[in-house]
Amino acid sequence: MITRSDDYLEYCRETAKGARDPHDLALRGRDKREITRLVHERIVAEVDLHPGDDLVDVGCGDGTLLRMAKKAGARSALGLLATDEEVAVLRRFGLHVQQALTDKLPLPDESASVVVCNNVLLVVPREKIPASLREIQRIAKPGARVFLGEIPFAQPPDPTPQFISRRELLSHLYRKHGLRTWFGMLRRMGWWAATGKPAVVCPGTAISFYAEPSDFIAMAQDAGLELVRYWQHEYPDTRNNYLFRRAS
Ligand SMILES: C[S@@+](CC[C@H](N)C(=O)[O-])C[C@H]1O[C@@H](n2cnc3c(N)ncnc32)[C@H](O)[C@@H]1O
Repeated sequence: MITRSDDYLEYCRETAKGARDPHDLALRGRDKREITRLVHERIVAEVDLHPGDDLVDVGCGDGTLLRMAKKAGARSALGLLATDEEVAVLRRFGLHVQQALTDKLPLPDESASVVVCNNVLLVVPREKIPASLREIQRIAKPGARVFLGEIPFAQPPDPTPQFISRRELLSHLYRKHGLRTWFGMLRRMGWWAATGKPAVVCPGTAISFYAEPSDFIAMAQDAGLELVRYWQHEYPDTRNNYLFRRAS
């Protein structure tokens, strides 16, 4: 019997343990490197990142934005990641990162001129969203640009089916992700069998939070953020990006 776990932090941890390349931590899939680059180039443009900025990237994934910030001459660029395992991977590449969850940011008040949180809030449990928005507002300096990206505007269907048998799971992985993933799962199944450990898969595809623009904007305003503008994200187009500003 295979149990499915939708514990996203466990998925982050497992991915970091098996990471061959920092881009694995963007959690978009190995073939989406170009999309990760494009997404972050647009964020740099939207927040008008410039020399002297102090950037905090909440849920920084593979650290693409931190590298871009260094190139842009930012004074500081700190990335936060949900697990110590992800932190260990990015530190090996010399990036300034630390472990933190969105609803408890280990940073002083008013420490960032730019706060980015892209493709992260959708995996945060809904009840933690108000506290997460308050934390983001707290660490933002007066007048700071705050980019909150990839918020689904409706509940998307979960693309990963439940698996009744190991054969079904293997054939799904082969069709969706190819031979390497198929083989990786086969090895894990061998390990489960040899150790007697429970067979648990963390597909990382379940969405915890989505909101219509009016609801999300109201939540952010309650936390003290002022809307600058919002627009539809392109990859995928079922999400919105929001640019806010902390009042001066
Ligand atoms: C899908 S990746 C997005 C990475 C990057 N922002 C991007 O757009 O490519 C999700 C990121 O959110 C982080 N994350 C997941 N849950 C989190 C939470 N509750 N608090 C803070 N970060 C979280 C993970 O560590 C991971 O870096």
